Amino acid sequence: MTDLPLYAVFGNPIAHSKSPQIHSGFAEQLQDPVRYETRLAPVDDLSGHWHAFLEEGGRGANVTVPFKEQAIALADRLSERARQAGAVNTLVVSDSGEVVGDNTDGAGLLLDLERLGAPLIGARILMLGAGGAVRGVLKPLLEVGPSELVVANRTVEKAIGLAELFKAYGQIRGCGFEDIEGRFDLVINATSASLSGDLPPLPETLFNEQALAYDMMYGAALTVFLEWAHTHGVRCADGLGMLVGQAAEAWYQWRGTRPDTTPILEAMRADLR
Ligand code: ATR
Repeated sequence: MTDLPLYAVFGNPIAHSKSPQIHSGFAEQLQDPVRYETRLAPVDDLSGHWHAFLEEGGRGANVTVPFKEQAIALADRLSERARQAGAVNTLVVSDSGEVVGDNTDGAGLLLDLERLGAPLIGARILMLGAGGAVRGVLKPLLEVGPSELVVANRTVEKAIGLAELFKAYGQIRGCGFEDIEGRFDLVINATSASLSGDLPPLPETLFNEQALAYDMMYGAALTVFLEWAHTHGVRCADGLGMLVGQAAEAWYQWRGTRPDTTPILEAMRADLR
């Protein structure tokens, strides 16, 4: 077993990470066996654990909470999308030993939205939240050509700052929740409000008829945001598909092949229930 290419996910905590299950699924599906492990790194010593992993012959890794910003320092070079996101969720070790820091979250979200047939081109999109998770997905979202992307956040300055940062890629505007105007075809919740059981104060007239409500979080039950969206009669989707999507893009960067995410997602969903 030990001669298989070695990959891992670094995080803290890490025991409940779904990445090993997802990547084992990809390996089996593509008949490309790899060794994929969880690595618990202390919050103040990601670097030491990463270098020990490289010594063992590690070929790449996923990086999760709380290391996505720290992981920038592990890379010899950043991909453009990692630089844009200001965070690294994937490390790729090239044959020459160069370590490339990448960010596959935006590609993962796009992959999932496309799978769902979400309204994108020419659509009005509302993004709730302006944290790290949002920063990583704005450029790919703008590049699919929505008519407008509105970023709404509790701390208004952060939404306005992100809009300023990404205005070169399309029609984008930042505002507070109370300034949200008009109806949207796609509303994405990327606030961590669900974790505390809170719902941002949202207008009742938020959705267009064929709208999709998407939450970057996932779980066995609907999130608070999706519960609210459900009462407005719109289609709802959680972020499990984004999780599988970002993993599929990481796999592609490591192995050069694209897994079919649908059967893996179905298996993960069944396990959640
Ligand atoms: P992540 O990396 O998941 O994006 P983050 O950078 O801490 O995490 O961002 C959390 C996001 O959730 C922010 O947009 C935050 O709003 P603020 O910028 O105003 O802090 C938002 N958030 C967290 N709790 C919230 C709540 N109870 N209501 C509304 N927004 C909330």
